[in-house]
Parts: sequence; C-alpha cells; structure tokens
Amino acid sequence: MVITTARKPGAQLEAEAREIAREHGLAFLPRENRSLDSLIAEYAKVLVLSNRGLSCFTAQGELFFHPNMAAVRLRMLRKGGRDKMLDICGLSPGDSFLDCTAGLCSDSLVAKYRVGEGGRILALEQSLPVYLVMAHGLKHVRPPRFQGLARGIELVNGDFRRILPQLPPRSFDVVYFDPMFDVPVMEASSLVPLRPLAADQPLTREDIILAGRVARKKVVVKERVFYDFSQLGLTRAGGVNRKTAYGVLDLVEDKDED
Ligand SMILES: C[S@@+](CC[C@H](N)C(=O)[O-])C[C@H]1O[C@@H](n2cnc3c(N)ncnc32)[C@H](O)[C@@H]1O
Repeated sequence: MVITTARKPGAQLEAEAREIAREHGLAFLPRENRSLDSLIAEYAKVLVLSNRGLSCFTAQGELFFHPNMAAVRLRMLRKGGRDKMLDICGLSPGDSFLDCTAGLCSDSLVAKYRVGEGGRILALEQSLPVYLVMAHGLKHVRPPRFQGLARGIELVNGDFRRILPQLPPRSFDVVYFDPMFDVPVMEASSLVPLRPLAADQPLTREDIILAGRVARKKVVVKERVFYDFSQLGLTRAGGVNRKTAYGVLDLVEDKDED
C-alpha cells in the first residue's frame, strides 16, 4: 500500500500526505502524472489525498467516507422514527458504546446521535486503510450538521481481539459487532470497496466472552438472517428484516436471574 495525492497537488496537500505516510510507516509516492489504474496495478491499495478527502483505491473501487447511510437513518430518527440497531442495543442518552467493527462508521454515528454529548463512542477498526480513510472523513466531514456527531467518535486503529482484554471490566454499556458477512448482501454497494480492505475473520465464542467482560448491559452482534446465533451463545432479538438479524447477550437479564 502507498499514499499519494491527486494530480497537481498544492504544497499543503502534499505535506499532509507525507505526514500521514510518516505517522503510519507508509511509502509516500509523488503522484506526477500517473494514472490510478497503473498505480493500482503496481501497488494494489492506493491511498489518494485530494481536496475531496482521503480515499483508498483498489481494483474493486474507491473507499471514501460518506455519511449517507447514517444520514438516512438520522433523518428518520430526527422525524421521531425508530432505528433497529438502537432499539436492540437499548442505548440511552449518556450511555457508552464500544463499536468493535467501525467500518464506514454509520452505526457509530447513529449511536452517537442517541447517546448525545454526555455519552461515549469508541470505535475500533483493524484495517489501516479503512481506519485512515474514516479518521480523515470524520475529521473533515461536511455538512456541518454531521460535525458534532463525527467529532464525538473516538476512532482507534486496532484489532478488537487485542484491545478488549486491555479495557476495564464493565466499562461500556454496550459492546457491538457488525463483522464482514461470509455471504455479502449484494445490494450493500457501499460495502463493495470495503471488502478487499477489511479484516474478515469470523466471530467466535471467545470474542463474545471478551466482549461480555467489558459490557455492562449487552453484547450485540449483527449478522445475516440465516446465521445461527446459538453458536456464539447469543439469543436472536427483535425479529429480522429481509437480510440481517441481531444476536444479543443480555447481561442485565442474566444478572437478575442469578
Ligand atoms: C461490515 S463492516 C462494519 C460496518 C459498520 N458497522 C458501519 O456502520 O459502517 C466490518 C468492519 O469491521 C472491521 N473488522 C473486522 N474484524 C475486526 C477486528 N478484529 N478488529 C477491528 N475491526 C475489525 C473490518 O475491517 C470492517 O471495516
């Protein structure tokens, strides 16, 4: 993977790209007049900083930050509508939410809307290119109505399997996973450029145990509708839509039963 700029970058853009390269141990490549196709053929993953933001190009397309998916859900919520993920997670203002699979950060943005300024969202992303694109996007997002939400998300580059054991017990109300599906939802076109860059190891029972130590109220997993949540020790919750379903470990209920 390399980082470059748009053609004819200003000095500031080039300095910013060089700084990202230095900070993350990447090779900086002066763009000169090279086509994206030739860069992708040579390097497979090409980060490009332009006035539009930071994108990552692969043969599968361009990954860039766009709050569109979250925007549709936020519009519904602002109109008094409901959101399936928020309902299942049972998030309230002031709660803390650990998003173990940040991806495009749509779920984190929606969660931030619900928990508000007094709540905390920590989002973990294992893939360096995905993290860099989203971190840049969250920092520079326009329009202004997203800025408060975006800047309220703490995005960290790391593997949840390494980070969960370092977090104090019961330190987040909800711990959430939305892993890459083995069988992709084909219509989810925004995920197509994410797929070649994403970490895609399936969840295991050990992961749920790690998460259950850190969660106060719930561990929630999003999966395909035909997924067998019992293999993770989870209970299917809230019905299903046509394509996805949620599995839950309800820690408050479990405690009440003791
Ligand atoms: C389906 S996407 C998540 C989409 C996200 N919920 C959203 O709203 O945009 C899954 C993401 O989890 C990341 N991921 C997978 N395994 C991970 C791990 N062990 N630690 C951190 N991130 C991981 C992938 O790289 C990918 O970006």
